[in-house]
Amino acid sequence: MTQIISVIGAGTMGSGITITAASAGIEVCQVDVSQEQLDRAKFYHEKTLKRNVEKERMTQDEADAALSRICYCQDHARASESSFAIEAATENSEIKKKIFGAMASTYPSNCILATNTSSISITEIGKSVGEAADRVIGMHFFNPVPVMKLVEVIKSPSTSKETLARTIELSEQMGKTPIAANDHPGFVSNRVLMPMINEAFHAWNDGVAGPDEIDGIMKLGCAFPMGPLRLADLIGLDVCRDIMLVLHEGLGHPDKYAPCAKLVELVEAGHLGNKTGRGVYDYTS
Ligand SMILES: NC(=O)c1ccc[n+]([C@@H]2O[C@H](COP(=O)([O-])OP(=O)(O)OC[C@H]3O[C@@H](n4cnc5c(N)ncnc54)[C@H](O)[C@@H]3O)[C@@H](O)[C@H]2O)c1
Repeated sequence: MTQIISVIGAGTMGSGITITAASAGIEVCQVDVSQEQLDRAKFYHEKTLKRNVEKERMTQDEADAALSRICYCQDHARASESSFAIEAATENSEIKKKIFGAMASTYPSNCILATNTSSISITEIGKSVGEAADRVIGMHFFNPVPVMKLVEVIKSPSTSKETLARTIELSEQMGKTPIAANDHPGFVSNRVLMPMINEAFHAWNDGVAGPDEIDGIMKLGCAFPMGPLRLADLIGLDVCRDIMLVLHEGLGHPDKYAPCAKLVELVEAGHLGNKTGRGVYDYTS
């Protein structure tokens, strides 16, 4: 029987999760409150599949089949049939808790309730749905989802073994490599990555070197595909600042995790990276 899942949020991550699942033979209900975002996601899905056919990664028939597995909805239209609901909506605790409340009451009692959050506590989200907490889990995909192999799977103390096993199974079915971690601020990926990015801002702020030199040294010396400051622009400087604040509040050590003044300055000036055309680097030309 074909598996059916719902993906809530049709932005950068949700649309990527949807096309990855649909390409792997899973039926997906792509949900968003915004019709504009649903239209944008559909456009992205069509474009991605077309490119995959051109590059001979799939046949036209396979691309047509993948697209036909997706429905685009402003409500949880296929909730009753879904075995998984993956929330990938805006990174805001109140919005997520509201969506999880709706998921817990609308989806079947054996449906896994996963979140793609990069920094919000899985334990806190679980607490907000009471008895359904054993079905709540973090399913942290990476950007761009169709390309990046990892799913960081985050269990809270309430997450059941069955929830963990089914999440690992779905990740593998989607062609990903799941690796499990416990629920702590920043999980593993952002706890290790973000302080490094923050330190690159400190090195720039202290006049150790300019952005090109810092990125060049880290790229060539550490075999990174891109330097930490360019990666910060790609992630979004506001997102980097917010994740540092989560580490700062959650882990103590104020000097170690406080966001660098240079990073905060750019965010406050509205220079958020690629998405605004300017961050550490200028992308307008
Ligand atoms: N962007 C990244 O690189 C990245 C990487 C890993 C994880 N994440 C996480 O993934 C999640 C989504 O991030 P994104 O970058 O895709 O954000 P985004 O802003 O591109 O998309 C968020 C989407 O959520 C929708 N939304 C808001 N409220 C909703 C609701 N009540 N119901 C349904 N949809 C709703 C918005 O309309 C929007 O389409 C966040 O939790 C973020 O932390 C992001």
